[in-house]
This record gives sequence, structure tokens and C-alpha cells, in this order.
Amino acid sequence: MKFFVDTADVEEIRELAATGLVDGVTTNPSLIAKSGRDFTEVVKEICTIVDGPVSAEVTATETDAMVEEGRKLAQIAKNVTIKVPLTWDGLKACRTLTQGGAMVNVTLCFSANQALLAAKAGATFISPFIGRLDDIGEDGMDVVRDIRTIYDNYDALSTQILVASIRGGDHVRQAALAGADVATVPPAVLRGLSEHPLTDKGLAAFLADWEKTGQSIL
Ligand code: G3P
Repeated sequence: MKFFVDTADVEEIRELAATGLVDGVTTNPSLIAKSGRDFTEVVKEICTIVDGPVSAEVTATETDAMVEEGRKLAQIAKNVTIKVPLTWDGLKACRTLTQGGAMVNVTLCFSANQALLAAKAGATFISPFIGRLDDIGEDGMDVVRDIRTIYDNYDALSTQILVASIRGGDHVRQAALAGADVATVPPAVLRGLSEHPLTDKGLAAFLADWEKTGQSIL
């Protein structure tokens, strides 16, 4: 499973990318607003740090305007993935943009049927929002499992499942078990995946015992 980071914080991306664990980046208008920076500049900078897909979202709501915005975003860098919402207009924009050779991430997906339509519209990625489904009392991961089954039923559907709205390590574990292609994770969640209290406890004990030997490796 690939890891994307779900942020527009360039410094965070730079630090995390240095680990080699980051395969791409997703942004959305809320994350751009949180960064307080110019949209185009931020996306351009992220694309110099990460070689993999970098999602930049259109804000138009009608097909023609979405396509126009998408084409402009795609000119920022070759690894820009145009993000469009899962609306009827968004699906039509997805078809046009992917037929023109662009990568498209269809976002705000909350059902397997929506994901089926996105795949048929040629989406490169589909983004089911797991945490937001959990928030309303549904099991977001059920949608991911259904999408995986549906896509695997048909060779013609090659859209990658990009699990979004991830809130913690358990979502990451379940996404990997479900066979998701990508998990996009907030930086804090990615860092948290490396942590376990028994790792800390074990390391403290090893270091204390090593100290007693009076030795040093170097
Ligand atoms: O980038 C889209 C998605 O990951 C947003 O997550 O936490 O705002 O539901 P969240």
C-alpha cells in the first residue's frame, strides 16, 4: 500500500518525504486555506519535494469550468493530479480530463456506487472518506471493502482506491487489510504508526543494560 500525506504544510511534507515513506500528497481547499499560502505556489513547491502524485482540487462546480481549472492545475507540474468532487459534473470533467491524459482523483466519495461511476469515468484514484462516514455512525471501511470487491470483479476497472479522511492507525491497518492501493494520512497519523509503548519500554531497558557494560560501539 502506498502512503500519501494529507496536508498542504510544505515543511511537514519535506521532513516526512526525507524518510522515503511518502509516495504522494493530497491537498484540498480546506488544507490550502489552513496553510495561509497561495494555492499555485504551494502545489508547485510540493511537486518539487515529492515525485509521486500531488492532488490539487478544482473549486468550480460545472463541468466546463472544472475542466478549465483542471487543465491549468495540470500545467503546474507533471505530477499534479487533478481532484474533482464526486458530482455528476465532476464525473463528466473526470472523463474529459483523463481522456486528455491527465491524472484525476475523484474525491468526496461515500458509497461503492459512487466509486463504480468514478471508475467508469476513468478516474485514476477514487477517494472514499472513511472518517466522515464513521462520524455519522456508519462503518467507512465497509465502503472500502465493497469498492475493492467491485473493482476486482471487473478487469476493465483500474482505478486505484485512495482511502481518505483517515483519523488514526486503525484506519491505516484496516485499509491495508482491505487491499486499498493508497492511504492518505495526516502527518501526525503517519508518525504515530511507528510508535508502540513496548518499543519505548524495550529500548529503555536495552539502553540501561548497555550502560552497565561500560562499552561503546564507536
Ligand atoms: O483530503 C481529504 C480528506 O482526507 C479529509 O479528511 O479529516 O477532513 O475528513 P477529514
